[in-house]
Amino acid sequence: MPKIKDPSLASRGELKIGWARTRMPVLSLLRSEYGSKKPLQGKRVGAGLHVTKETAVLVEALMSAGASVSVCASNPLSTQDDVAARLVDEGADVYAWKGMNNEEYYWAVNQVLASRPEIILDDGGDLTVAAIASNVQLDGGCEETTTGIIRARALEKQGKLRFPLIAVNDAETKWEFDNVYGTGQSALDGIIRATNILLAGKTVVVSGYGHVGRGIANRARGMGAEVIVTEVSPVNALKARMDGFRVTKMDEAAKIGDLFITATGNKSVITEEHFRLMKDGAVLANAGHFNVEIDVNALEKIAESKREVRDFNVEYDLGGKKLFLLAEGRLINLTAAEGHPSEVMDMSFSNQFLSALYLKDHGHEMKPGVHPVPREQDEQVALLKLRSMGIEIDTLTEEQESYLGGYGEGTS
Ligand code: NAD
Ligand code: ADE
Repeated sequence: MPKIKDPSLASRGELKIGWARTRMPVLSLLRSEYGSKKPLQGKRVGAGLHVTKETAVLVEALMSAGASVSVCASNPLSTQDDVAARLVDEGADVYAWKGMNNEEYYWAVNQVLASRPEIILDDGGDLTVAAIASNVQLDGGCEETTTGIIRARALEKQGKLRFPLIAVNDAETKWEFDNVYGTGQSALDGIIRATNILLAGKTVVVSGYGHVGRGIANRARGMGAEVIVTEVSPVNALKARMDGFRVTKMDEAAKIGDLFITATGNKSVITEEHFRLMKDGAVLANAGHFNVEIDVNALEKIAESKREVRDFNVEYDLGGKKLFLLAEGRLINLTAAEGHPSEVMDMSFSNQFLSALYLKDHGHEMKPGVHPVPREQDEQVALLKLRSMGIEIDTLTEEQESYLGGYGEGTS
Protein backbone atom coordinates (compact mmCIF):
# COMPACT_ATOMS: atom_id res chain seq x y z
CA MET A 1 0.00 0.00 0.00
CA PRO A 2 1.55 3.35 -1.03
CA LYS A 3 1.94 6.00 1.67
CA ILE A 4 1.86 9.67 0.74
CA LYS A 5 0.65 12.89 2.34
CA ASP A 6 -2.66 13.54 0.60
CA PRO A 7 -4.21 11.72 -2.39
CA SER A 8 -6.51 14.69 -3.11
CA LEU A 9 -3.50 16.69 -4.37
CA ALA A 10 -3.24 14.52 -7.51
CA SER A 11 -4.87 16.97 -9.94
CA ARG A 12 -2.40 19.71 -9.00
CA GLY A 13 0.36 17.12 -9.38
CA GLU A 14 -0.80 16.30 -12.90
CA LEU A 15 -0.61 19.98 -13.88
CA LYS A 16 2.95 20.16 -12.58
CA ILE A 17 4.00 16.94 -14.30
CA GLY A 18 2.34 18.10 -17.53
CA TRP A 19 4.48 21.24 -17.42
CA ALA A 20 7.62 19.12 -16.96
CA ARG A 21 6.74 16.67 -19.75
CA THR A 22 6.73 19.40 -22.38
CA ARG A 23 10.16 20.55 -21.23
CA MET A 24 11.74 17.10 -21.26
CA PRO A 25 11.74 16.33 -24.99
CA VAL A 26 14.50 13.73 -24.97
CA LEU A 27 12.91 11.64 -22.24
CA SER A 28 9.52 12.01 -23.95
CA LEU A 29 11.03 10.75 -27.20
CA LEU A 30 12.54 7.74 -25.42
CA ARG A 31 9.22 7.12 -23.72
CA SER A 32 7.42 6.99 -27.11
CA GLU A 33 10.08 4.77 -28.64
CA TYR A 34 10.21 2.23 -25.81
CA GLY A 35 6.56 2.56 -24.84
CA SER A 36 5.66 0.48 -27.87
CA LYS A 37 8.52 -2.03 -27.51
CA LYS A 38 8.02 -2.60 -23.74
CA PRO A 39 11.61 -3.71 -23.02
CA LEU A 40 11.01 -3.58 -19.26
CA GLN A 41 7.85 -5.70 -19.35
CA GLY A 42 7.52 -7.49 -16.02
CA LYS A 43 10.62 -5.84 -14.52
CA ARG A 44 10.46 -4.39 -11.02
CA VAL A 45 12.26 -1.08 -10.62
CA GLY A 46 12.91 0.56 -7.22
CA ALA A 47 13.67 4.27 -7.19
CA GLY A 48 15.16 6.31 -4.34
CA LEU A 49 14.93 9.72 -5.97
CA HIS A 50 13.74 13.21 -5.09
CA VAL A 51 10.02 12.92 -5.78
CA THR A 52 9.62 15.88 -8.13
CA LYS A 53 7.70 16.56 -11.30
CA GLU A 54 10.80 15.60 -13.31
CA THR A 55 11.16 12.31 -11.45
CA ALA A 56 7.50 11.68 -12.25
CA VAL A 57 8.27 11.99 -15.98
CA LEU A 58 11.02 9.38 -15.54
CA VAL A 59 8.72 7.04 -13.59
CA GLU A 60 6.09 7.41 -16.32
CA ALA A 61 8.65 6.48 -18.98
CA LEU A 62 9.70 3.40 -16.99
CA MET A 63 6.08 2.31 -16.53
CA SER A 64 5.36 2.90 -20.24
CA ALA A 65 8.29 0.62 -21.03
CA GLY A 66 6.55 -2.09 -18.99
CA ALA A 67 8.17 -1.79 -15.54
CA SER A 68 6.38 -1.72 -12.21
CA VAL A 69 7.93 1.03 -10.13
CA SER A 70 8.25 1.56 -6.36
CA VAL A 71 9.47 4.94 -5.20
CA CYS A 72 10.91 6.33 -1.98
CA ALA A 73 12.44 9.75 -1.41
CA SER A 74 16.16 10.46 -1.39
CA ASN A 75 15.82 13.29 1.11
CA PRO A 76 13.27 13.82 3.91
CA LEU A 77 12.34 17.32 2.67
CA SER A 78 12.45 17.07 -1.15
CA THR A 79 9.15 15.35 -1.94
CA GLN A 80 6.51 17.33 -3.84
CA ASP A 81 3.35 15.91 -2.25
CA ASP A 82 1.08 16.72 -5.19
CA VAL A 83 3.41 14.90 -7.57
CA ALA A 84 3.55 11.90 -5.24
CA ALA A 85 -0.26 11.80 -5.20
CA ARG A 86 -0.50 11.83 -9.00
CA LEU A 87 2.14 9.11 -9.34
CA VAL A 88 0.08 6.85 -7.11
CA ASP A 89 -2.96 7.48 -9.35
CA GLU A 90 -0.83 6.46 -12.30
CA GLY A 91 0.01 3.13 -10.67
CA ALA A 92 3.38 3.75 -9.00
CA ASP A 93 3.95 2.50 -5.46
CA VAL A 94 5.09 5.66 -3.67
CA TYR A 95 6.32 5.90 -0.07
CA ALA A 96 7.24 9.55 0.36
CA TRP A 97 6.02 12.83 1.81
CA LYS A 98 7.65 16.16 2.55
CA GLY A 99 8.82 16.36 6.16
CA MET A 100 9.43 12.66 6.85
CA ASN A 101 11.44 11.97 9.98
CA ASN A 102 14.49 9.72 9.91
CA GLU A 103 12.60 6.63 10.97
CA GLU A 104 9.90 7.18 8.35
CA TYR A 105 12.53 7.85 5.70
CA TYR A 106 14.26 4.50 6.25
CA TRP A 107 10.91 2.72 6.61
CA ALA A 108 10.10 4.00 3.09
CA VAL A 109 13.47 2.80 1.75
CA ASN A 110 12.70 -0.65 3.13
CA GLN A 111 9.21 -0.63 1.59
CA VAL A 112 10.85 -0.19 -1.82
CA LEU A 113 13.20 -3.09 -1.11
CA ALA A 114 10.25 -5.20 0.04
CA SER A 115 8.88 -4.89 -3.52
CA ARG A 116 11.93 -6.99 -4.56
CA PRO A 117 13.26 -4.62 -7.21
CA GLU A 118 15.49 -6.06 -9.92
CA ILE A 119 16.93 -2.68 -10.86
CA ILE A 120 17.38 0.29 -8.50
CA LEU A 121 17.78 3.96 -9.37
CA ASP A 122 19.36 5.81 -6.48
CA ASP A 123 20.27 9.39 -5.59
CA GLY A 124 22.82 9.59 -2.79
CA GLY A 125 23.33 5.92 -1.96
CA ASP A 126 20.83 5.29 0.85
CA LEU A 127 18.82 2.77 -1.22
CA THR A 128 22.02 1.10 -2.45
CA VAL A 129 23.44 0.73 1.07
CA ALA A 130 20.11 -0.64 2.33
CA ALA A 131 19.91 -3.04 -0.65
CA ILE A 132 23.34 -4.41 0.22
CA ALA A 133 22.23 -4.99 3.80
CA SER A 134 19.11 -6.82 2.56
CA ASN A 135 18.85 -10.03 0.55
CA VAL A 136 17.37 -8.54 -2.65
CA GLN A 137 18.84 -9.91 -5.86
CA LEU A 138 19.52 -7.08 -8.29
CA ASP A 139 20.41 -6.98 -11.98
CA GLY A 140 22.09 -3.73 -10.96
CA GLY A 141 21.70 -0.12 -9.92
CA CYS A 142 22.14 3.39 -11.28
CA GLU A 143 23.45 6.28 -9.17
CA GLU A 144 22.44 9.87 -9.80
CA THR A 145 24.76 12.02 -7.71
CA THR A 146 28.42 12.62 -6.79
CA THR A 147 27.97 11.68 -3.13
CA GLY A 148 26.28 8.41 -4.13
CA ILE A 149 29.19 7.58 -6.46
CA ILE A 150 31.70 8.29 -3.67
CA ARG A 151 29.80 5.91 -1.39
CA ALA A 152 29.50 3.26 -4.13
CA ARG A 153 33.25 3.41 -4.81
CA ALA A 154 33.94 3.01 -1.07
CA LEU A 155 31.65 -0.05 -1.02
CA GLU A 156 33.40 -1.41 -4.11
CA LYS A 157 36.82 -0.91 -2.52
CA GLN A 158 35.74 -2.88 0.53
CA GLY A 159 34.37 -5.68 -1.68
CA LYS A 160 30.80 -5.02 -0.53
CA LEU A 161 29.19 -3.88 -3.79
CA ARG A 162 27.80 -7.19 -5.03
CA PHE A 163 26.03 -5.93 -8.15
CA PRO A 164 26.94 -3.67 -11.09
CA LEU A 165 26.17 -0.01 -10.53
CA ILE A 166 26.16 2.48 -13.40
CA ALA A 167 27.60 5.88 -12.47
CA VAL A 168 24.94 8.03 -14.13
CA ASN A 169 26.32 11.10 -12.34
CA ASP A 170 29.60 10.75 -14.20
CA ALA A 171 28.04 10.83 -17.68
CA GLU A 172 29.16 14.07 -19.30
CA THR A 173 25.56 14.87 -20.23
CA LYS A 174 24.75 14.69 -16.52
CA TRP A 175 27.67 15.98 -14.46
CA GLU A 176 28.59 18.88 -16.75
CA PHE A 177 25.01 20.17 -16.98
CA ASP A 178 22.79 19.08 -14.07
CA ASN A 179 25.40 19.71 -11.37
CA VAL A 180 26.69 22.91 -12.96
CA TYR A 181 23.74 24.72 -14.57
CA GLY A 182 20.97 22.89 -12.72
CA THR A 183 22.31 23.50 -9.23
CA GLY A 184 23.73 26.87 -10.22
CA GLN A 185 20.23 28.12 -10.92
CA SER A 186 18.10 26.08 -8.51
CA ALA A 187 20.26 26.66 -5.42
CA LEU A 188 19.95 30.41 -5.90
CA ASP A 189 16.24 29.94 -6.59
CA GLY A 190 15.87 28.18 -3.22
CA ILE A 191 17.87 30.85 -1.40
CA ILE A 192 15.82 33.62 -2.95
CA ARG A 193 12.50 31.90 -2.16
CA ALA A 194 13.58 31.42 1.47
CA THR A 195 14.96 34.95 1.94
CA ASN A 196 14.07 37.25 -0.98
CA ILE A 197 17.44 38.94 -0.43
CA LEU A 198 19.06 40.96 -3.19
CA LEU A 199 22.19 39.23 -4.41
CA ALA A 200 23.61 42.30 -6.12
CA GLY A 201 26.17 43.88 -3.85
CA LYS A 202 26.40 40.92 -1.47
CA THR A 203 29.53 38.97 -0.63
CA VAL A 204 28.74 35.33 -1.32
CA VAL A 205 31.06 32.60 -0.06
CA VAL A 206 30.89 29.37 -2.08
CA SER A 207 32.60 26.35 -0.53
CA GLY A 208 33.77 23.86 -3.12
CA TYR A 209 34.61 24.79 -6.69
CA GLY A 210 33.71 21.45 -8.25
CA HIS A 211 30.79 21.09 -10.62
CA VAL A 212 28.09 22.36 -8.28
CA GLY A 213 30.21 25.12 -6.71
CA ARG A 214 31.32 26.34 -10.15
CA GLY A 215 27.70 26.63 -11.26
CA ILE A 216 26.62 28.50 -8.14
CA ALA A 217 29.62 30.85 -8.11
CA ASN A 218 29.07 31.87 -11.71
CA ARG A 219 25.33 32.41 -11.32
CA ALA A 220 25.84 34.45 -8.13
CA ARG A 221 28.40 36.61 -9.91
CA GLY A 222 25.97 37.02 -12.79
CA MET A 223 23.48 38.48 -10.33
CA GLY A 224 25.94 41.08 -9.09
CA ALA A 225 27.42 39.40 -6.04
CA GLU A 226 31.08 39.47 -5.14
CA VAL A 227 31.97 35.77 -4.87
CA ILE A 228 34.66 34.26 -2.65
CA VAL A 229 35.56 30.60 -3.07
CA THR A 230 36.97 28.24 -0.43
CA GLU A 231 38.55 24.97 -1.57
CA VAL A 232 40.78 22.12 -0.44
CA SER A 233 41.85 21.03 -3.93
CA PRO A 234 44.81 23.11 -5.19
CA VAL A 235 43.73 22.54 -8.80
CA ASN A 236 40.12 23.58 -8.29
CA ALA A 237 41.23 26.54 -6.16
CA LEU A 238 43.44 27.63 -9.05
CA LYS A 239 40.58 27.22 -11.50
CA ALA A 240 38.41 29.43 -9.31
CA ARG A 241 41.13 32.08 -9.13
CA MET A 242 41.67 32.05 -12.89
CA ASP A 243 37.92 32.25 -13.43
CA GLY A 244 38.24 35.54 -11.59
CA PHE A 245 37.05 34.64 -8.08
CA ARG A 246 38.79 35.57 -4.85
CA VAL A 247 40.00 32.41 -3.10
CA THR A 248 40.71 32.22 0.59
CA LYS A 249 40.37 30.03 3.67
CA MET A 250 37.06 29.66 5.44
CA ASP A 251 38.59 31.28 8.55
CA GLU A 252 38.96 34.50 6.55
CA ALA A 253 35.81 34.19 4.42
CA ALA A 254 33.70 33.64 7.54
CA LYS A 255 34.38 37.21 8.67
CA ILE A 256 33.19 38.88 5.48
CA GLY A 257 30.46 36.77 3.89
CA ASP A 258 26.81 37.87 3.74
CA LEU A 259 25.70 34.53 2.31
CA PHE A 260 27.46 31.14 2.61
CA ILE A 261 26.68 28.26 0.25
CA THR A 262 28.34 24.87 0.76
CA ALA A 263 28.75 22.58 -2.25
CA THR A 264 31.49 20.13 -1.32
CA GLY A 265 29.93 16.73 -0.61
CA ASN A 266 32.10 16.84 2.51
CA LYS A 267 31.28 17.31 6.20
CA SER A 268 32.04 20.02 8.78
CA VAL A 269 32.91 22.69 6.22
CA ILE A 270 31.31 25.46 8.30
CA THR A 271 31.72 24.85 12.02
CA GLU A 272 31.34 26.57 15.38
CA GLU A 273 34.55 28.55 15.03
CA HIS A 274 33.21 29.99 11.76
CA PHE A 275 29.77 30.85 13.22
CA ARG A 276 31.60 32.82 15.90
CA LEU A 277 33.46 34.84 13.26
CA MET A 278 30.44 35.62 11.10
CA LYS A 279 28.72 38.98 10.72
CA ASP A 280 25.31 39.72 12.15
CA GLY A 281 22.65 38.70 9.63
CA ALA A 282 24.75 36.18 7.69
CA VAL A 283 22.70 33.58 5.80
CA LEU A 284 23.75 29.90 5.55
CA ALA A 285 22.64 27.42 2.90
CA ASN A 286 23.82 24.04 1.64
CA ALA A 287 23.63 22.61 -1.88
CA GLY A 288 25.61 19.41 -1.23
CA HIS A 289 23.79 16.10 -0.91
CA PHE A 290 23.74 15.63 2.86
CA ASN A 291 23.03 18.01 5.75
CA VAL A 292 26.52 17.60 7.20
CA GLU A 293 28.37 20.44 5.46
CA ILE A 294 27.17 23.07 7.94
CA ASP A 295 27.53 21.90 11.55
CA VAL A 296 23.90 22.45 12.51
CA ASN A 297 24.33 20.70 15.88
CA ALA A 298 27.00 23.23 16.87
CA LEU A 299 24.76 26.10 15.78
CA GLU A 300 21.92 24.66 17.88
CA LYS A 301 24.30 24.34 20.82
CA ILE A 302 25.67 27.89 20.80
CA ALA A 303 22.39 29.66 20.00
CA GLU A 304 20.48 31.29 22.88
CA SER A 305 17.22 30.90 20.97
CA LYS A 306 15.85 30.25 17.51
CA ARG A 307 12.65 30.97 15.61
CA GLU A 308 11.33 30.37 12.10
CA VAL A 309 11.12 33.74 10.36
CA ARG A 310 10.00 32.51 6.93
CA ASP A 311 9.42 29.11 5.33
CA PHE A 312 12.72 27.20 5.44
CA ASN A 313 14.49 30.09 7.16
CA VAL A 314 15.39 29.86 10.86
CA GLU A 315 16.97 32.71 12.79
CA TYR A 316 19.54 31.66 15.40
CA ASP A 317 20.17 34.27 18.07
CA LEU A 318 23.74 33.98 19.28
CA GLY A 319 23.39 36.91 21.67
CA GLY A 320 24.83 39.97 19.99
CA LYS A 321 24.22 38.64 16.47
CA LYS A 322 21.78 36.59 14.44
CA LEU A 323 22.54 33.94 11.83
CA PHE A 324 19.95 32.54 9.44
CA LEU A 325 20.02 28.85 8.49
CA LEU A 326 18.04 27.84 5.41
CA ALA A 327 16.31 24.47 4.89
CA GLU A 328 17.84 22.98 8.05
CA GLY A 329 21.13 22.73 6.16
CA ARG A 330 19.58 20.23 3.73
CA LEU A 331 19.66 20.60 -0.06
CA ILE A 332 18.41 24.16 -0.48
CA ASN A 333 17.26 23.76 -4.07
CA LEU A 334 15.00 20.78 -3.42
CA THR A 335 13.73 21.90 -0.04
CA ALA A 336 12.92 25.58 -0.55
CA ALA A 337 12.47 25.41 -4.34
CA GLU A 338 11.58 22.69 -6.87
CA GLY A 339 15.02 21.29 -7.69
CA HIS A 340 16.59 21.71 -11.09
CA PRO A 341 14.52 22.91 -14.02
CA SER A 342 13.01 20.21 -16.22
CA GLU A 343 15.19 21.07 -19.21
CA VAL A 344 18.36 19.92 -17.49
CA MET A 345 16.76 16.94 -15.72
CA ASP A 346 15.77 15.83 -19.24
CA MET A 347 19.39 14.78 -19.81
CA SER A 348 19.99 13.35 -16.32
CA PHE A 349 16.87 11.22 -16.43
CA SER A 350 17.30 10.14 -20.06
CA ASN A 351 20.61 8.75 -18.82
CA GLN A 352 18.85 7.03 -15.92
CA PHE A 353 16.26 5.55 -18.28
CA LEU A 354 18.81 4.30 -20.84
CA SER A 355 21.06 2.97 -18.05
CA ALA A 356 18.13 0.97 -16.64
CA LEU A 357 17.57 -0.53 -20.12
CA TYR A 358 21.29 -1.27 -20.37
CA LEU A 359 21.24 -3.09 -17.03
CA LYS A 360 18.24 -5.12 -18.09
CA ASP A 361 20.12 -6.29 -21.21
CA HIS A 362 23.66 -6.53 -19.82
CA GLY A 363 23.41 -6.59 -16.01
CA HIS A 364 23.90 -10.35 -15.85
CA GLU A 365 27.20 -10.16 -17.77
CA MET A 366 28.62 -7.12 -15.91
CA LYS A 367 30.97 -7.60 -12.95
CA PRO A 368 29.93 -6.25 -9.54
CA GLY A 369 31.32 -2.73 -9.14
CA VAL A 370 30.96 0.80 -10.48
CA HIS A 371 30.64 1.08 -14.28
CA PRO A 372 30.66 4.17 -16.50
CA VAL A 373 27.73 5.12 -18.69
CA PRO A 374 28.54 3.82 -22.19
CA ARG A 375 30.07 6.65 -24.25
CA GLU A 376 27.60 6.06 -27.10
CA GLN A 377 24.74 6.70 -24.66
CA ASP A 378 26.26 9.99 -23.54
CA GLU A 379 26.63 11.10 -27.16
CA GLN A 380 23.12 9.93 -28.04
CA VAL A 381 21.64 12.00 -25.20
CA ALA A 382 23.68 15.07 -26.24
CA LEU A 383 22.66 14.72 -29.88
CA LEU A 384 18.97 14.26 -29.06
CA LYS A 385 19.11 17.28 -26.74
CA LEU A 386 20.72 19.42 -29.45
CA ARG A 387 18.09 18.29 -31.97
CA SER A 388 15.31 19.13 -29.54
CA MET A 389 16.80 22.63 -29.34
CA GLY A 390 16.87 22.91 -33.14
CA ILE A 391 20.67 22.89 -33.23
CA GLU A 392 22.63 21.09 -35.94
CA ILE A 393 26.37 20.50 -35.71
CA ASP A 394 29.03 19.57 -38.25
CA THR A 395 30.26 16.01 -38.67
CA LEU A 396 33.81 14.90 -39.34
CA THR A 397 34.68 14.39 -43.00
CA GLU A 398 36.57 11.22 -43.93
CA GLU A 399 39.66 13.34 -44.51
CA GLN A 400 39.39 14.84 -41.00
CA GLU A 401 38.84 11.44 -39.38
CA SER A 402 41.92 10.07 -41.04
CA TYR A 403 43.94 13.19 -40.09
CA LEU A 404 42.90 12.90 -36.44
CA GLY A 405 43.72 9.20 -36.44
CA GLY A 406 47.20 9.62 -37.88
CA TYR A 407 50.61 11.11 -37.18
CA GLY A 408 52.09 11.52 -40.64
CA GLU A 409 51.10 15.12 -41.36
CA GLY A 410 53.17 17.64 -39.39
CA THR A 411 54.64 21.08 -40.11
CA SER A 412 54.15 21.98 -43.77
P1 NAD B 1 32.81 17.72 -7.17
O1 NAD B 1 33.65 16.56 -6.74
O2 NAD B 1 32.81 18.13 -8.59
O3 NAD B 1 33.20 19.01 -6.30
C1 NAD B 1 33.34 19.02 -4.91
C2 NAD B 1 34.40 20.08 -4.58
O4 NAD B 1 34.39 20.34 -3.18
C3 NAD B 1 35.83 19.63 -4.95
O5 NAD B 1 36.46 20.62 -5.73
C4 NAD B 1 36.50 19.47 -3.59
O6 NAD B 1 37.88 19.75 -3.62
C5 NAD B 1 35.74 20.48 -2.77
N1 NAD B 1 35.83 20.25 -1.32
C6 NAD B 1 35.83 19.08 -0.64
N2 NAD B 1 35.95 19.31 0.69
C7 NAD B 1 36.02 20.67 0.85
C8 NAD B 1 36.14 21.52 1.98
N3 NAD B 1 36.24 21.03 3.22
N4 NAD B 1 36.18 22.87 1.77
C9 NAD B 1 36.11 23.38 0.52
N5 NAD B 1 35.98 22.60 -0.59
C10 NAD B 1 35.93 21.27 -0.43
O7 NAD B 1 31.33 17.37 -6.69
P2 NAD B 1 29.98 18.06 -7.23
O8 NAD B 1 29.48 17.29 -8.39
O9 NAD B 1 30.20 19.50 -7.32
O10 NAD B 1 28.99 17.70 -6.01
C11 NAD B 1 29.10 18.36 -4.75
C12 NAD B 1 27.94 17.93 -3.85
O11 NAD B 1 26.71 18.38 -4.42
C13 NAD B 1 27.76 16.41 -3.70
O12 NAD B 1 27.29 16.13 -2.42
C14 NAD B 1 26.70 16.09 -4.72
O13 NAD B 1 26.07 14.86 -4.47
C15 NAD B 1 25.81 17.28 -4.55
N6 NAD B 1 24.88 17.60 -5.65
C16 NAD B 1 23.75 18.27 -5.29
C17 NAD B 1 22.84 18.62 -6.26
C18 NAD B 1 21.59 19.35 -5.86
O14 NAD B 1 20.58 19.21 -6.55
N7 NAD B 1 21.63 20.14 -4.82
C19 NAD B 1 23.05 18.29 -7.60
C20 NAD B 1 24.23 17.65 -7.94
C21 NAD B 1 25.14 17.29 -6.94
N1 ADE C 1 17.92 16.73 -8.34
C1 ADE C 1 18.06 18.05 -8.53
N2 ADE C 1 16.96 18.58 -9.10
C2 ADE C 1 16.08 17.55 -9.26
C3 ADE C 1 14.78 17.48 -9.79
N3 ADE C 1 14.15 18.54 -10.29
N4 ADE C 1 14.18 16.26 -9.78
C4 ADE C 1 14.83 15.18 -9.28
N5 ADE C 1 16.06 15.19 -8.79
C5 ADE C 1 16.69 16.38 -8.77
